[in-house]
Amino acid sequence: MEESTSAATGEAKRLLRALGGEVVERPAWWLMRQAGRYLPEYRALRSQAAGFIEFCLNPELASEATLQPVRRFGMDAAILFADILLVPHALGQKVEFGEDGPILEPIVEGSGIGRLSPDGCAGLDPVYETVRRCRARLPAETALIGFAGSPWTVATYMVEGGASRDFRRTKAWAYRDPHGFGALIELIVEATVDYLSGQITAGADAIQLFDSWAGVLPEAGFARWVIEPTRRITARLKERFPAVPVIGFPRGAGLFYQRYVAESGITAVAIDTAVSPAFAREMLQARVAVQGNLDPVALLVGGAAMREEVRAIRSALGGGPFIFNLGHGVLPQTPPENVAELARQLAEPLDIT
Ligand code: CP3
Repeated sequence: MEESTSAATGEAKRLLRALGGEVVERPAWWLMRQAGRYLPEYRALRSQAAGFIEFCLNPELASEATLQPVRRFGMDAAILFADILLVPHALGQKVEFGEDGPILEPIVEGSGIGRLSPDGCAGLDPVYETVRRCRARLPAETALIGFAGSPWTVATYMVEGGASRDFRRTKAWAYRDPHGFGALIELIVEATVDYLSGQITAGADAIQLFDSWAGVLPEAGFARWVIEPTRRITARLKERFPAVPVIGFPRGAGLFYQRYVAESGITAVAIDTAVSPAFAREMLQARVAVQGNLDPVALLVGGAAMREEVRAIRSALGGGPFIFNLGHGVLPQTPPENVAELARQLAEPLDIT
């Protein structure tokens, strides 16, 4: 990949144009979890570090993991290689990645917050170095997306101690003691603003907030624990970095997507696989750019089934500000050739696909 500056192209990056509300002829595209285990070159790189956190905090390895998919497929954006659980790690919580996903020493309701350090984000300096290295090596037309988890989703991992089916401990704490739970959310908001500011200062062009578990709360909880903390983060970032767009991904939010778009202060919304593209066009795209929402299993299958899904999404959403993506992350079993096939289809004009 050649080294160059955005001035060299004479036009803004396709991803940023779409985020700014422009309708672009060929859609900008990238994929959530576009780096990772489905790529053989990632698996080779990953074997060079023992732990996953160690891998994420190694700028040489993490920047290479960030660039791998862009080099292979030419997406319009790279997403920083890191993880949403680096924030709990930086706050002093014990975080490990086992065979079956992350394991954290749970923060217990009440006294648990006292064990967290409020100025832990200093430990994330290596991530900013990764951003600088990626920025220097990416083609001028490719945007670099920084990210963090949203406070609600990060809190679920911190309180449950890992993945969960029913989020019983986190929700119970929020119902029983909203003031105490709010203090945990506030701590995460502060750390996240710090962390994202560091990424932007180091060269991230846009930010995505992953709220993977936004869809498990009833409306009042959704307003208080999903929308409100997101709004505080977007407001603080907007003060310092008014030109940097923020993509919100409240996965599973269903009919609350509309409220989220109206109230959270995000610049663009990522929709999950279950959101109807026609609904997104009618109800969301008039206010913000929409990103999504191919089923990751359609990408895994490829061929005619994928092609038809891609065509339908493009024809519903391509007439407004739109970024093509998945409705959730690339599955590790996905054949890389299917991503190449997707790239070819997206490069064709819609009427022949
Ligand atoms: O998108 C990218 O390519 C950038 C990297 C990225 C990772 N995680 C790398 C990763 C991003 C954006 C994330 C976000 C993330 N992490 C989310 C939000 C998106 C979502 O999937 O809902 C969440 C909930 C996490 C927490 C997490 N990290 C889990 C639950 C797991 C284990 C299960 C799994 O999907 O692998 C991880 C580990 C993880 N994060 C891996 C990668 C590449 C796999 C670990 C490995 O390679 O050994």
